[in-house]
Amino acid sequence: MSGIDGKKILLIISGGIAAYKSLELIRLLRKRGCNVTGIVTKGGEQFVTPMSVAALTENPVYTDLWSLKDETEMGHIRLSRECDLILVAPASADMLAKMAHGFASDLASTTLLASDKPVYVAPAMNNKMWDHPATQDNLTLLQSRGITVIGPNEGEMACGEYGLGRMSEPDEIIHAFDGLADVQKPLSGVSALVTSGPTHEPIDPVRFIGNKSSGKQGHAIATALAQYGADVTLVSGPVNLPDPAGVNVIHVQTALEMLEACKNATPCDVAIFAAAVADWSAVTTLTEKIKKRGRRNPPDLQLKENPDILATIARPSRKRPKLVIGFAAETENVVDFAKEKMQSKNCDWIVANNVAENAEDISETQIFGADQNHVYLISADNVEEWPLMQKSNVAEKLCQRIGDAFAQDEILSCPAAAE
Ligand code: CTP
Repeated sequence: MSGIDGKKILLIISGGIAAYKSLELIRLLRKRGCNVTGIVTKGGEQFVTPMSVAALTENPVYTDLWSLKDETEMGHIRLSRECDLILVAPASADMLAKMAHGFASDLASTTLLASDKPVYVAPAMNNKMWDHPATQDNLTLLQSRGITVIGPNEGEMACGEYGLGRMSEPDEIIHAFDGLADVQKPLSGVSALVTSGPTHEPIDPVRFIGNKSSGKQGHAIATALAQYGADVTLVSGPVNLPDPAGVNVIHVQTALEMLEACKNATPCDVAIFAAAVADWSAVTTLTEKIKKRGRRNPPDLQLKENPDILATIARPSRKRPKLVIGFAAETENVVDFAKEKMQSKNCDWIVANNVAENAEDISETQIFGADQNHVYLISADNVEEWPLMQKSNVAEKLCQRIGDAFAQDEILSCPAAAE
């Protein structure tokens, strides 16, 4: 028995034209020996009938939070507890928003809120709805709580538009489950350190030196590492993101605090430096707000260089993590400059992105704060270009590579500890 075989699945079908695919999904799940129980939302009922779902699952189907018959038996609590996992397919934009914000306004959302089981969502919606920051923020929030997102695919929408938003095909969903289950926690027993976000270097009580980093990529990596079973410490600068589920998060403001927290988190097996650390800090931090002294007399701001956290942790020593992965944000000669950084900072791999080109790829948005990334994974003897993808997918692909490296003992070839 592997993957999804024989599982008790609560399938929530929310409103969207892709709901018709859920009937085929039920058939495939049944073929794999799963016991499927369906909840169909009011929107879902517009596209598939509860009768079809009952007939295919050979189980009662649930639609109503206020069903006297079901709720005398505390139906929504029972449904949320009696399954091995919950799959929401299709997951509409509305359903994702309800899940992200804890709504309990119908049977499906109430059951999800009452559940302590693993939850998987297969989103389906118009491409503009998918791209909307509200949907993307909701997904980031859900993923940070450990919810797994399957798909969506790119293609032609029911409305004729083209883009990301088509629900994954039923066999792809089954395949994704198999993948997730087969690689079941490939990083369990591995300790990981991740830095994320910007640092803020104070000038006076109201001003600081900072940068535009959102922390989305670093947080996605911490989330994925935890999902792969690693024991993760995330050292985060000031960001507007929730703490990822199952991760030990240390909040810092400055580069010096980040360095201290990273030193405390070593030794560890793998360290990933995704933070955009401010390169400089003020020589003196004033305790009173600097007042304007006329146009001709701006303050004379003296800066000093911050310590390089990656280079410090990657130095040969007994505490050096076995695998050190840096990031490189470049605007030209991406691969060459990134390789130089990899050498000068003594890291084993570097994830490089072209911040200027990425901004073009993502059309009108910028890489900072965007939800997608186009990167190169560079190691001593290899350069891999990954196509533009969601930051969560970059994180997952990176975890797979880390898992492979640990499985194949590649990490033993990393620079030896000298101290
Ligand atoms: N980094 C770090 N500490 C610093 C500066 C950078 O740990 N004080 C890490 C980043 O987290 C990243 C890598 O070093 O993993 C490269 O960061 P990047 O900003 O691309 O390069 P810099 O070293 O700052 O050099 P430059 O800005 O001149 O390109």
